[in-house]
Amino acid sequence: MKGIHFILVACFLALAFACFLASAFDPSPLQDFCVAIDDPKNAVFVNGKFCKDPKLAVADDFFYSGLNKPGNTYNRVGSNVTTVNVDQIPGLNTLGISLVRIDYAPYGENPPHTHPRGTEILVVVQGTLYVGFVTSNPENRLITKILYPGDVFVFPIGLIHFQYNLGNTPAVAFAGLSSQNAGVITIANAVFGSNPPINPDVLTKAFQLDKNVVTHLQSLF
Ligand SMILES: *[C@@H]1O[C@H](CO)[C@@H](O)[C@H](O)[C@H]1NC(C)=O
Repeated sequence: MKGIHFILVACFLALAFACFLASAFDPSPLQDFCVAIDDPKNAVFVNGKFCKDPKLAVADDFFYSGLNKPGNTYNRVGSNVTTVNVDQIPGLNTLGISLVRIDYAPYGENPPHTHPRGTEILVVVQGTLYVGFVTSNPENRLITKILYPGDVFVFPIGLIHFQYNLGNTPAVAFAGLSSQNAGVITIANAVFGSNPPINPDVLTKAFQLDKNVVTHLQSLF
């Protein structure tokens, strides 16, 4: 009888453990990659950054000033992202949150990009933005909205998204990101502007383009 009880309890624990595992999540990497090594003496980087002795923390470790100033949008895409992450505010280390200010020239855009490590929640404070994101394969459904001042929109982690200023005046938005270092992959730059360039044959087939178009696009970066 005791034995059966033991087996039942063991089964219950195994089930609970399995349930726990099923709801577990890999920790956020906080950087593009972290190649494992056996000898910690040769380690040069940890998951995130090293920590200051908490007794030595000061207000400036949690402070940034200047987000009232617009970024310069005089560039090809007509937008500028001012990032306030763990590199600007060291106190953000391990807290899983950061902030950006995005300025848009008239008809400027924040071009299609993804944040590999963060969901984004954006609020428009000035102007009119056409925003959207695309869901993963195989649906690749486009979800869009036109936003006005005070409107808030969410771009889920990892999905390709964009914002386009529909107005003939500058636009401004702020956004929170669920990572101390959400990372950015701008699709056009990563695909056509990689260093060194991707073999044009790869992109010709992938995008079903004439090879001359591919080499022209690559020459723009
Ligand atoms: C964004 O604006 C800042 C501040 O004006 C400027 O230093 C930076 O070069 C701009 N970045 C781009 C990509 O235009």
